[in-house]
Amino acid sequence: MILVRGGTVVTAEQRYRADILCGDDGQIAAIGPQLEIPGGCTVVDAGGMLVMPGGIDPHTHMEMPFMGTTASEDFFTGTAAGLAGGTTSIIDFVIPDRDQPLHDAYLDWRFRAGKACADYGFHVAVTRWDERVSRDMALLVEKCGVNSFKHFMAYKNALMIDDPVFLHSMQRAAELGALCTVHAENGEAVAFLQENLLAQGVSGPQAHPLSRPAALEGEATRRAITLAGLAHVPLYVVHVSTREATEAIAAARLAGMEIYGEVLPQHLVFDAGVYEGSDWLAAARHVMSPPFREKAHQEALWGGLVSGQLQTTATDHCCFCRGQKERGIGDFTRIPNGVPGIEDRMSVLWHFGVASGRLSEAQFVAMTSTNAARIFNLYPLKGAIAVGSDADLVVWDPCATRRISAATHHQNVDYNLYEGMELTGVAMKTISRGKLVWDDTKLDVLRGAGRYVGRPAFRRKG
Ligand code: URP
Ligand code: ZN
Ligand code: ZN
Ligand code: ZN
Repeated sequence: MILVRGGTVVTAEQRYRADILCGDDGQIAAIGPQLEIPGGCTVVDAGGMLVMPGGIDPHTHMEMPFMGTTASEDFFTGTAAGLAGGTTSIIDFVIPDRDQPLHDAYLDWRFRAGKACADYGFHVAVTRWDERVSRDMALLVEKCGVNSFKHFMAYKNALMIDDPVFLHSMQRAAELGALCTVHAENGEAVAFLQENLLAQGVSGPQAHPLSRPAALEGEATRRAITLAGLAHVPLYVVHVSTREATEAIAAARLAGMEIYGEVLPQHLVFDAGVYEGSDWLAAARHVMSPPFREKAHQEALWGGLVSGQLQTTATDHCCFCRGQKERGIGDFTRIPNGVPGIEDRMSVLWHFGVASGRLSEAQFVAMTSTNAARIFNLYPLKGAIAVGSDADLVVWDPCATRRISAATHHQNVDYNLYEGMELTGVAMKTISRGKLVWDDTKLDVLRGAGRYVGRPAFRRKG
């Protein structure tokens, strides 16, 4: 048992002084002022600290096979890095091979994730349409705890689907009480621009943002929302990076649609300038999709978060080391797309959001944990501080600072996007289902201690 003593509890709704007793079953057993210390209980001092629900990162790609290589971060190292930054759960993506049945792919991912040291769940990607896919979607929702399906409108000749496939999948998800998620960029237009740029001899990483203009994200987001309206299915747009997409989501919500939007802290911090300059590797290390944008888009993303039109923050944590990025020397379309971020998400959002005065503490909890738990039907098991909820907690020092470096991070990747930044707001201790797994600078994690968390289907309307 662990007693978290003397802290200020902050949730998405409340702020109060209380102790929290975490039971041996991994759940919160009691909350109250000055709780008695049961025999054999470890006391964790949270004096002067905030105690918040552990972070939920609803968008990661651990050990993902992608663009001819495999993401360097595995489920063990990735969840360990998350714990070091206060994130206690992830939702990763099952990506079926070309003709692989969805349920087989799900079993592959369950096997891979068996080494995780924090809790995890899965979205499953739909990359084609046939009867088997339709049947497997039902199996996944009804028997396997999957309530969200992923769709890529980009990555032509790989993961991309067309509108009819998207509609079939949306219709099926609606029948099953599942949610659709989408990577919204017009992949046909991206492929066209990539070809043009290469034909003109523009082959370095600076071509990456040129091939993926903001308008193509706006168009795809509007189209995805239109299709979701036809299929009457809730839609969650991952990694929203533009004003156009933010406005499309806000307009749909005002029209009464159930549409959600996710923001990556990376898009809040870095702009298109990262692709300039002559350092090939520095630019390639920022190659992700959607790319980093002009500064004006960042203001729209902040506005979307502050107003609640965009609800969650995730990292899209997808790591490639130098040798992997270098696959794209001479052809930017071969640079594996993806950047790291899981360890630093909470500090970055605190520093640039709360410490800068844009966000309240409660909004921070909502955006790093509670909203994702609600949207993906994990609440109040996760995302809450309540008796019976999982004892996933972060003891947070709002004033402490930390300098970020690849030399000291726990992520299994050879660079850190935030290298050298000094951030205010630090996860001092992390408790994962009742175990103290991160204490100041010390990780104490067990390979395989993470648990698969199934997520029930949503109640169907009408
Ligand atoms: O560049 C990215 N984002 N790589 C991971 C796959 C995806 O699109 O989310
Ligand atoms: Zn199953
Ligand atoms: Zn994506
Ligand atoms: Zn992703």
